[in-house]
Order: sequence, then structure tokens, then C-alpha cells
Amino acid sequence: MASKVVRKLPDDLKLGVATAAFQIEGAWSEADKSPSIWDNFCHIPGKIKDGTTADDACKSYNFYKRDIEMLKYLGVDFYRFSISWPRILPNGFADKISESGIEYYNKLIDELLSNKIEPVVTMYHWDLPQNLQDLGGWTNPLMADWFEEYSRVLYKSFGDRIKTWITINEPKQIGLFGYGLKRFAPGINAHGIGEYIAAKNIVLAHAKAWHVYDKEFREKQKGVCGITIATDFREGATSSPADIDAGLDAIQFEVGLYAHPIFSDEGGFPDRVKRLVNKRSKEQGYPKSRLPEFTKDEIEFVKGTSDFYGFNHYSTKFYTRVGFERGMYPEPSYDDDIGAIASYLDYEQGAIPHVTVIPQGIRKALKWVKESYNNPPIMITENGYGTLGGIEDYDRISYFKKYLNCILDAIEIDHCNVLSYTAWSLMDNFEWDSGLSIKFGLFQVDYEDDRRKRTARSSAMWYRNLLSTKTLNLDHVPVLEDISF
Ligand code: BGC
Repeated sequence: MASKVVRKLPDDLKLGVATAAFQIEGAWSEADKSPSIWDNFCHIPGKIKDGTTADDACKSYNFYKRDIEMLKYLGVDFYRFSISWPRILPNGFADKISESGIEYYNKLIDELLSNKIEPVVTMYHWDLPQNLQDLGGWTNPLMADWFEEYSRVLYKSFGDRIKTWITINEPKQIGLFGYGLKRFAPGINAHGIGEYIAAKNIVLAHAKAWHVYDKEFREKQKGVCGITIATDFREGATSSPADIDAGLDAIQFEVGLYAHPIFSDEGGFPDRVKRLVNKRSKEQGYPKSRLPEFTKDEIEFVKGTSDFYGFNHYSTKFYTRVGFERGMYPEPSYDDDIGAIASYLDYEQGAIPHVTVIPQGIRKALKWVKESYNNPPIMITENGYGTLGGIEDYDRISYFKKYLNCILDAIEIDHCNVLSYTAWSLMDNFEWDSGLSIKFGLFQVDYEDDRRKRTARSSAMWYRNLLSTKTLNLDHVPVLEDISF
């Protein structure tokens, strides 16, 4: 089946594109918006590879109507964007709600709806108000309460029109990169500890926001609420039992740490992670495991709190225990706890390693989610390819074709329950620690132009064709047209 050149997409598969507030909005100090951890982080010299900031980014705060013109050109069913917490609640807390913040998202939502594009909202895509970080950010257990209050403001303000809520985008990247590896804001160097505390608090925050929706809003607003988890695949580098085991450990650290408490029958952190962190903690002289535990009540509170599995996927990594030695990684640390070496094997790496093209991994990851968590409805909330630029982006088109082909295998052959597919991203934007240098857009953004002119890449034409035909034609190569907004 996989060798067919033309494949019909399921009639009910919804197709869209995604962005995130910090990556596109700019207007970082507009009106009463307070700084987020990312505003401050990218102002610290040396943190962002190309030295850029997101102060202006794509200026979508000013030019959101043009973004909607681009969405109309593509013909998407939905647009996934995120709301900036410090734009809505400048103090981080719900004591003061910003009128201008609410107004901005009202305009965006209304404009989308009047163009028949469904808004899909992420509540938190990494731009934490700095003043909450000053209180410990995701290492403070009270974050769960503060997130709950923020979520209630969003449901009240926008829930009459928003029918799909994503609470939190990619807990691993928040916790590990932000509190374990210093790569992302807030840049806390607490490896082996910070990422695990953050994991627990993020999962609890998500669960609280879900319960608020379920109890207070669902009946009236009739939407769904879930979490998005980075679900890149992890497997053994060889078929040796030791490597297979390393792969099974790795996927539990990378994905299960966040998915298991929410989607599994037994709840709580996965056994493999508990076992390994506990073992290393003991060897290192800690009186108890560095991995915090969920109480029995918390386990029950968190279980089943997602109406769908939000699935982001870019690539696959392979793990081996051959050549692994203690001392290779800092101690304590997440990598040392996994106790294996990760690589992309001989696959050719692109401009950014985490888009190394390994399309069969997406099928394996979808099947893994299906089999691990009772076949949940899956929304593919991100998938895409980063380059150094260029309008004729046939490498991106090729990535999309190969990945979609494997997604269709997952749907048709493995019977994974995939509801939607989201291309990352609508346009080039601020790619976190890579700054503006890495381009993920179907549309190119000209950062030299004050109006941030957006020009359609070949991939925009290709995606538009996919959307209008609802057919994946592996041979289709679009002719580049001159289209800009
Ligand atoms: C994030 C996006 C990011 C994309 C590409 C995901 O991890 O959710 O914000 O731009 O990957 O790296």
C-alpha cells in the first residue's frame, strides 16, 4: 500500500497549520504586556545562536490580518496558534486582565471565524511571565494553581468560540531544555533534578486546567481539551537486546514521562523511568529518588485528563549502550539516568538535527501511542521541516510527502485514530535558541522589510494543492507562483 503514488486522504482528516505567540507576534512590550522568560532570555548575549531576538519577530500582532489571508490562500480547515500568558495577565496572576490583550485575541479569533477557519488554541507555548519565573517557575508546585487560574480566564474570555484547547505544548522541551540543560528559557542549570520537578508540575498544571474545563465550561461550551506532547520516536540502534532495552527506556524518558501519567491505565510516572532514576539517585548518595512521586490522589486526579493526544513529531533517535560510560554526561543528569548514547545513525542531518528525515518513525510513534494508551484520538499538532532558506523548498515538500505517506499507513494499516494533521509552520518565525536563522515556514518572511513581507514558498503551493484535492500525490511537484502578502 505504501508504494501507491496517489493516495486519498480520509474525508474527515482535518488539515491545518500552526504557529506560537512568542515566535510570531513581536510587540513584546506593547501596551501592558509584561516580559516573558523568553523575552528576557533572548536579550542575554550568547543565548541565541544568531544573536537575534523576537522583539518584533513576524509582527503578527500588527499584521495578523495578513496571516489570515495566507491561511485563506492555503485553504486550511484550522489554524493552531498560541496565546501569550503575559499579554493576557501582565502580573502572571489573574488579579489583572489586560483589556488590550483580550482585544487582540478577540480580533484574531473573530477574523478567523468569519473566514470559516477554525481556531485551535494552545494556552502555553513556553512564554511564561517572568514574574512567575521569579517565584521558581515550573519548579514551584503552585504553578499548577496559577495555570489553572490563567486557563479559567481563557475559557471565560474565548471559550464561546474556541472548541479545541491545547493546555501545554511539549512538556519535555519546557522542563529538560529550560531547567535541565540551560538551552531554553529560563536557562536554569539544575540537570538531573529541575527537569523532573518541572515534569510533575507541568502534568499537574495541565490536569487542573482540564478539570476546570470539564467541570465549569464543557457543558456550555462543548469543546475538547488536551495536551500536546513531543512524540519523536526513540528506538534501539541495533537489534541487540541491550539496545532494544535502551530504546524502550529512552521513549519512556522522552515521551512516557508526560504521557503515562495522563493516558495510561495505571497513571503516575512510567516504571522504567522510576527504576532508573531511583537506581542512579541511590548510587549517587541521594536519600531518595530525584524523580518526585505523585501521591495516590494526584495519580487519580491526573489520569484520563486529555480528550485527545496532541502529537508533535519531527524525527527519530536511536539508542545504544555500546560505548556508554559513566562520566560521559554530567551527574546527575537526565542523559546519565537513561544511560545510553543517542544518535541519528547514518541518516543525513539537515540544517537542524531534529528534522533528520526518518519518515517511518512517525508511523512507529503513532502505533506506539495507540498501543500504549488504548487507542486515543490523536491530533497531529506539529510536523515540519527546517532549512536555511530558499523559496523553492523541494526538500520540505519531500519531507511532508514522505511523512504523510507514513501517516496514511498508520491510519489505513495500523488503524491509528488520527483526527487531524498540522504543518509546522505557517511562516518562518523565531526558532527559539536558533533565532531567525532556521526557517520552518510554508511562507518566507522578509525580516529586513518593515512590514515583514511574506512570500509563498513552493511548499505553500504544494500544501494548498493537498488541501484542495485531499489527495497525497507523491509525484506532484508544484510550479512556483509569485504570491506574497
Ligand atoms: C515546537 C515549535 C518549534 C518546532 C520546530 C517544536 O518543538 O513546538 O515551537 O518551532 O518544534 O523546532
